[in-house]
Amino acid sequence: MKSSITQGVKLLATGSAVPDLCISNELISNIVDTSDEWIFNRTGIKERRVLSGSTSLIDIAALASTNALNKAGISALDIDLIILATSTPNDLFGSASQLQAKIGASKALAFDITAACSGFVIAMVTAAQFIQNASYSNVLVVGADVLSNWTNWSDRRTCILFGDGAGAAILQSCSISNNNLLGFHLNTNGRKFDQLNIQYEYSNTDGNFFSPGLKGNFNYITMNGKEVYKFAVSKVPQSIQYCLDSLNLSVEHIDWLLLHQANERILNAVSSRLMIPSEKVISNLAKYGNTSAASIPLALNEAIEDSRIQSGDLLVMSGFGAGLTWGTLVFRWNP
Ligand code: UT7
Repeated sequence: MKSSITQGVKLLATGSAVPDLCISNELISNIVDTSDEWIFNRTGIKERRVLSGSTSLIDIAALASTNALNKAGISALDIDLIILATSTPNDLFGSASQLQAKIGASKALAFDITAACSGFVIAMVTAAQFIQNASYSNVLVVGADVLSNWTNWSDRRTCILFGDGAGAAILQSCSISNNNLLGFHLNTNGRKFDQLNIQYEYSNTDGNFFSPGLKGNFNYITMNGKEVYKFAVSKVPQSIQYCLDSLNLSVEHIDWLLLHQANERILNAVSSRLMIPSEKVISNLAKYGNTSAASIPLALNEAIEDSRIQSGDLLVMSGFGAGLTWGTLVFRWNP
């Protein structure tokens, strides 16, 4: 997709936050028929963080955001736009406005993007459009999810996978010659929406439109794991290759491959299909599991903080999941 670009985009800083409560594989194996060995061998996950008590999605999203703002050295009042990628809002009308209020970004427009595990990549691309057409200068992009709210803790096929977390990135306009968001490729296949979803189920079938109370409820997360796995390992490499080709780059140019943290075997399969060495693959699955829209910015922030990612490095990030939706973003870390 082509757009008219009058400004460049640079990634200024990142931040992240996870809840304190840590749930190990051993603990889950006390609840459902599973084992640390099965979970680790099949997914690479050892433990995950889960929200508890009165802490909310907004609290961890705000922590990640202020973490990024502090590193960027800008005030919340400098933010023009907040995009919150989440599929687990605490308000169906959107949670971004609560985040705006919580961090005091009173001049910013704020809205949600719902695209599950592709949410952060899509939010970054959306933010880039507003910057590149010179509408906004400073954009806060947050990926935050609390999938534990929608996890069926008696379903061993899904409850072992998910965790909660938040990650943030601050994008800023710059001259076109300094543009660091090089290219993207986004896709959806809605025919397979039912392979991974949190479906709304109607319970009020008495035909009385005006009857009081809830008309239904959202269900738990359901997933056809095998199908989603096959989708990820076939579509994600294609998406990355498409992006690289469109930029006249090859896999050798990639310094870091940052995939949505769904399963270590998916990370391995995608990187080996593209012949990207495992040393270039960022993984923090063992500590956090699959944190949906938070997984990419959480891993990105950790790799920047521990200096694995160096100034000038070329990163390829790909999200994939419910929708089914998938997408790739190629950018250079040059703060
Ligand atoms: O974030 C969005 C994107 N999500 C993904 O990308 C997830 C993609 N899918 C996956 O990562 C994998 O499919 C899973 C990790 C979810 C499952 O791994 P799998 O290797 O595809 O296992 P499976 O579903 O084929 O199950 C294999 C066996 C089954 O037993 P039988 O039928 O062979 O006797 C399952 O019942 O493993 C059994 N099983 C378990 N056993 C112990 C399934 N879950 C568990 C469990 N513990 N937690």
